[in-house]
Amino acid sequence: MELYFATGNPHKLAEANSILSDLGVILKPAPSPKIEIQSESLEEIARYAAEAAYRSIGSPLVVEDSGLFVESLNGFPGPYSSYVYKTIGCGGILRLLEGRGNRAAHFECVVVYASREALRSFVGIAKGYIAEAPRGSGGFGFDPIFICEGCGGRTFSELCQSEKSAVSHRGRAFRALGEWLSSPGRENTLK
Ligand code: IMP
Repeated sequence: MELYFATGNPHKLAEANSILSDLGVILKPAPSPKIEIQSESLEEIARYAAEAAYRSIGSPLVVEDSGLFVESLNGFPGPYSSYVYKTIGCGGILRLLEGRGNRAAHFECVVVYASREALRSFVGIAKGYIAEAPRGSGGFGFDPIFICEGCGGRTFSELCQSEKSAVSHRGRAFRALGEWLSSPGRENTLK
């Protein structure tokens, strides 16, 4: 099965394809860009973008929105992660955490599938904490400063793609999508 993926981020496309290829789903870049509204809810952002992309493309597609939520910063940068990464980056998050004991954080990813019959969301969460300093060279965004639970203290940037996908927010959300797409009787569970 082939689906469009409305994203301008080639890392997200590569990660999602590596997760879904085992389930027989291939994602191709959508011909129209992802429309981003401002909202405090990743799900609202992703649903709006999926509906807008479906109106423009008219073929089944997926959109995802994701963010890093730092506990002692009351969930910041959350839905503003993309802008915060571009402006203050990993170094800025590390500076905001200087002197704070609690470094707990999580990534969240909401994947929305849109087709003529369905608009459906899948959520994935990866719990962990923020490293004292950036480490590793793989991945993108806040990967060098995020240490996921169960990864032996390594940052996402120190994992290979399959290791990251096994535990990541994106891996969990896209696997849930893939399982739903390949489940028998899916047509009866639309909406
Ligand atoms: P958006 O979903 O396009 O709004 O962007 C989310 C932002 O969160 C990205 O630009 C990254 O900075 C960050 N982010 C989301 N997922 C990841 C990830 O898997 N690793 C590192 N940073 C991520």
